[in-house]
Amino acid sequence: MSIKIRQATIEDMPSVLEIINYEIANTTAIWDYDLRTLSEQEAIFNEKKEKNFPFIVAEKEAKIVGFGTYGTFRFKIGYRFTVEHSVYIHKDFHGNGIGSTLIKELIELAKNQNLHTMIGVIDSENMGSIAFHEKLGFKNVGHIKETGFKFDRWLDSIFMQILLE
Ligand SMILES: CC(C)(COP(=O)(O)OP(=O)(O)OC[C@H]1O[C@@H](n2cnc3c(N)ncnc32)[C@H](O)[C@@H]1OP(=O)(O)O)[C@@H](O)C(=O)NCCC(=O)NCCS
Repeated sequence: MSIKIRQATIEDMPSVLEIINYEIANTTAIWDYDLRTLSEQEAIFNEKKEKNFPFIVAEKEAKIVGFGTYGTFRFKIGYRFTVEHSVYIHKDFHGNGIGSTLIKELIELAKNQNLHTMIGVIDSENMGSIAFHEKLGFKNVGHIKETGFKFDRWLDSIFMQILLE
């Protein structure tokens, strides 16, 4: 499968929205309840750009099949070398190495920005994402119980970390 990774543009946001809204509506991979609007997604994209954080997309035959980004982990200044990342692949394109390609690119971008560590905060039921992060070299560094509530039940957070040397 030939996949091109590139910086996202604002014109990609409808495709990004389709991917993320599927996850919001159907899964606990993301703990939003309400579907995002296009203007909300565009605002997220613009804020990443303003803060000099990357927003990348994976393109297959002119279709956006996944995206990745990172941003502030916590807002206190002492956290400035730490970022929290997100990677989402269109549901019809899982298991084709696209997530791996995106996250490797995010790791390279983070190293180039002299960041020190990347953290993914993952729903403990999301075994696919946990296995995916382990395969990519992330370590499970924390399990925080009942930090989320969606679909009428409590959810736990798993923190998965990679140190960028
Ligand atoms: C998790 C996700 C980003 C992985 O991306 P992907 O492109 O499907 O994953 P890849 O094909 O690059 O997989 C790389 C490795 O991760 C592991 N992996 C990925 N998905 C897996 C799954 N569902 N179950 C078990 N292992 C999995 C495998 O070890 C795989 O290597 P292999 O193909 O040699 O076995 C993607 O499935 C996704 O977007 N899921 C829904 C949204 C989500 O959970 N995002 C992450 C939020 S924290």
